[in-house]
Amino acid sequence: MRFPRTAPRSDGGTMTASRPWPVGVTGLAYGGDYNPEQWPQDVRVEDVELMREAGVNLVSVAIFAWATLEPREGEYDWGWLDETMDRLADAGIKVALATATASPPPWLTRSHPEILPVTEDGTVLGQGGRQSYAVSSPVFREYALRMTRAIAERYAEHPALALWHVDNELGCHVPHDFSDNAAEAFRAWLQRRYRSIETLNEAWGTAFWSQRYDSFEEILPPRAAPTYANPTQQLDFARFSSDELLTHYRALRDVLREVTPHIPTTTNLMCSSATKWMDYFSWSDDLDLVANDHYLISADPRGHIELALAADLTRGVAGGDPWVLMEHSTSAVNWQPRNRAKAPGEMLRNSLSHVARGADGIMFFQWRQSRAGAEKFHSAMYPHAGRDSDVWRGTVTLGRALEALAPVRGSRVLSRAAIVVDYPSWWAAELDSHPTNALSYPGELLRWYTALWDLGISVDLVPVTADLAGYDLVIAPTLYAVRDADAARLAAAAEGGAQVVVTFFSGIVDENDHVRLGGYPGAFRDLLGVRTEEFHPLLEDEVHHLDDGASADLWSEKTHLEGAQAVRTWADGPLHGWPAITRRATGEGAAWYVAARPSAAGLEALVGEIAAAAGIEPTVSGLHRDVEALRRFAEDGTTYLFVLNHSDRDQVVQVSGRELLRGTEADGAFTVHAGAAAVFQES
Ligand code: GAL
Repeated sequence: MRFPRTAPRSDGGTMTASRPWPVGVTGLAYGGDYNPEQWPQDVRVEDVELMREAGVNLVSVAIFAWATLEPREGEYDWGWLDETMDRLADAGIKVALATATASPPPWLTRSHPEILPVTEDGTVLGQGGRQSYAVSSPVFREYALRMTRAIAERYAEHPALALWHVDNELGCHVPHDFSDNAAEAFRAWLQRRYRSIETLNEAWGTAFWSQRYDSFEEILPPRAAPTYANPTQQLDFARFSSDELLTHYRALRDVLREVTPHIPTTTNLMCSSATKWMDYFSWSDDLDLVANDHYLISADPRGHIELALAADLTRGVAGGDPWVLMEHSTSAVNWQPRNRAKAPGEMLRNSLSHVARGADGIMFFQWRQSRAGAEKFHSAMYPHAGRDSDVWRGTVTLGRALEALAPVRGSRVLSRAAIVVDYPSWWAAELDSHPTNALSYPGELLRWYTALWDLGISVDLVPVTADLAGYDLVIAPTLYAVRDADAARLAAAAEGGAQVVVTFFSGIVDENDHVRLGGYPGAFRDLLGVRTEEFHPLLEDEVHHLDDGASADLWSEKTHLEGAQAVRTWADGPLHGWPAITRRATGEGAAWYVAARPSAAGLEALVGEIAAAAGIEPTVSGLHRDVEALRRFAEDGTTYLFVLNHSDRDQVVQVSGRELLRGTEADGAFTVHAGAAAVFQES
């Protein structure tokens, strides 16, 4: 994986976009999922005219088309897809063509019910929805490979073909399958990982509760059991499930590479604070182009912050390279408890926030709003209401905006701050039978991210294996399970001059979820200069205070200073006077331990203090807290400043350069109106 070095230290050597781009797509990519199989011929013809009007240049086709393309086993009906591909090619619109394998057709689940997935409690998930397959099923895989090869061979030379879209949101509905097929594949995966059953017994700590295995044949997935399943078994099952989906992806991708080596391949990931089903970082090297789907949490009045986190995380998975937003929504979705329509300007700001954070393509689910099926109340680029609607006008406006932003393509985001994100820590930290059930890994991640967002500081979200040398500030929230080498990398960053922040419930266990003995936070004791003898998690509604006046909830611990200094102590509660936040100077930098969960205001004050120690300034100073500002850096030295005003007040910024959305020159004070967006090519 590659990560760009920080702006001030950049030698420019890492600036070149190094992932392939959809063939023939010029400028930024714009479009959405296109499902013409749901519509009659006249609508299909109109679709392409409307797409041209909106400036669409890339559409994802055939994602859920298996049953339409292969209505009976071995009998293909390519007619509608041939026509669609031709019509799009004639209009100069490129296609991200799907493998059509995201949902098996009814004839397949009927003739091979053994491909159906099974839940933890043994329920077989039937057909009639979507994604009703067990990814470990050799029978399903064989059929999926056959379909993939058929579609690849059919359209290999088609001029519309720009990108392969494998399956769809792999694991979205069935991240963990507990079927017999999964059991067999899990055993094989464990055999490769541990080689001998003795090693597995040691790693899983099976001396506990009479769990010792005599052979791999005795092992099952962590199916519903009378009480807590073995934690390492659960952790390994999460690792296996991610790898199993990746193995399936690779097999389909290899067919596509064999048939069309000139066409890049991707699949739409789901990087966000809501999804821990896969270790997305481990997918990075297998994706020619990284693509993500993100849906705004519409009940969250500041949902644009979680959106930004998801975008930065996707850029992290892409190793800093530009990526594509494969799906989001023009307005309401249909699957949240209350599906709020987006406010005027919100969809444009959402889209541009992704672009500001490295997306070179903005796409939607879906092009035309369905009139039947489970998603008919989900918004689309072309709504039920037709042309005379704000949604359609928004679609056209965004198309113009993205055309104007074409020069941004390939430029990169350079951050001096990093947050370490680790999926195995996420999985393991949230297992059962822990000091508190109220700890949410993504909740902690989002709290630290929000503090940086509110301070206007750009941040990279990087894996624990990333080279941290270029960063001046590194934050590791709840990095629960670490290997020695990962802990050493954080220590080296501090030695090398960074401010390194480690938060509570970090470094507690090794990669097998075995506690590091001698006091918490095991792996980081030396770096942080502290030793905790016992956790004191707080009860529900229990709140205490730190000596700076900030309230704190959820967590406390009895921490001894062994080389560190207390930065905040507890001002009340059972640990009154004990350290809550500490700092230890080391090498050129410092290591901070945050053994408490301060309120949002307390956390922002702390992060401000640490960022100042790191010498990091906001991208633009003095903005209203709901105004987002971010810069992309092009290889030729051009910089693009995005200013997105999510607030209800006008915001004046000092800039000089060209404002690309309006095509006007800016020299000095420029007003970005409430709810509006501006992108400056700076001079
Ligand atoms: C995604 C999925 C799309 C559509 C969308 C609705 O998870 O890939 O097919 O269902 O959600 O928001």
